[in-house]
Amino acid sequence: MSLPLLISSLLTVSSLTLSSVASPPMVETLEIKPQIINPHLPKSLSSSKRFEGSSNLVNLKYHMGPVLSSSPIKVYIIWYGRWAPQQQLLIKDFLLSVSPPSSSSAAVATVAEWWKTLALYTDQTNANVSRDLVIAGEYSDHKCSQGTHLTRLSMQQVISNAVRTAPFPVDHRNGMYLILSSVDVTVQDFCRAVCGFHYFTFPSVVGATLPYAWIGNSGNQCPEVCAYPFAVPSYMAGGGTPALRPPNADVGVDGMISVIAHELAELSTNPLINAWYAGEDPTAPTEIGDLCEGVYGSGGGGGYMGQVLRDQQGRTFNLYGKSGRKFLVQWVWSPVLKACTGPNALDYLEKH
Ligand SMILES: *[C@@H]1O[C@H](CO)[C@@H](O)[C@H](O)[C@H]1NC(C)=O
Repeated sequence: MSLPLLISSLLTVSSLTLSSVASPPMVETLEIKPQIINPHLPKSLSSSKRFEGSSNLVNLKYHMGPVLSSSPIKVYIIWYGRWAPQQQLLIKDFLLSVSPPSSSSAAVATVAEWWKTLALYTDQTNANVSRDLVIAGEYSDHKCSQGTHLTRLSMQQVISNAVRTAPFPVDHRNGMYLILSSVDVTVQDFCRAVCGFHYFTFPSVVGATLPYAWIGNSGNQCPEVCAYPFAVPSYMAGGGTPALRPPNADVGVDGMISVIAHELAELSTNPLINAWYAGEDPTAPTEIGDLCEGVYGSGGGGGYMGQVLRDQQGRTFNLYGKSGRKFLVQWVWSPVLKACTGPNALDYLEKH
């Protein structure tokens, strides 16, 4: 449920250059010769018990609760702390890339294609997770109403303040609430145990049971932990192990995007922690993002993050989004394939 630390101990980047690849429709021509890379995962991650790769033995079960099936999913964003407009735009562009585009352009590796795997999850009424997602409201708590250190409980107070402030409604039907904390805000367990988590609010604090997720910008506090592979620990950099270049030139926020994706995937398939998870312990469920942590492309698992593309500006990515954006987003567990899956800009190249 929560994205744990990735303690980096080993990262090597090997790359090979494609000799003849076609330019995919959404790629500018200067990317005719992108590179394919498949870096090693940090040892702690590849040997993690929660990292299962592809296996029929993964015991992902449905526990009879609801999934986010009402369409569209309405995301209410709480910007906690000071955010730069371009950072907000980047995160919003990612969220707005989830819904399928209205024009039926050739399906390449898009965020909308990535979300398709989530739509394979259903509840006991056979309702699928919705494929449509909108940003239904934004609330800026730039003065940090609950201070510059948040706990799991004070976070609910932040949501409570937001839903008492019209027009940020209590949306039982379609709502998911997203608290995004800025670089200078510290959070209970942030960097030490989690990079983000999702849960639901309590009626005694917020007045309703609402699914929410928190993700922090680790840029100043622990990018080598929560924005991996865009940052590596200094002892590794000294050994010549480079960090990968983020697709949108913002280590903290580009790193956050994959954590946001991870939490959204889990929140939509397990919003009240009684739907889709593996393991027998509901207080420590292993969810569909956890099962594929650290896997971004084909050849991932067994100690590798999987093959992803590096464009000619050196930016690493696997998905395209709206406004010509590129993102590097981890894969998720498919209930049909019983494996980690996702689209990859690279796979498109290989077919041609
Ligand atoms: C809904 O989920 C079922 C079961 O995984 C799947 O067969 C079906 O294609 C899904 N529908 C959509 C629209 O994704």
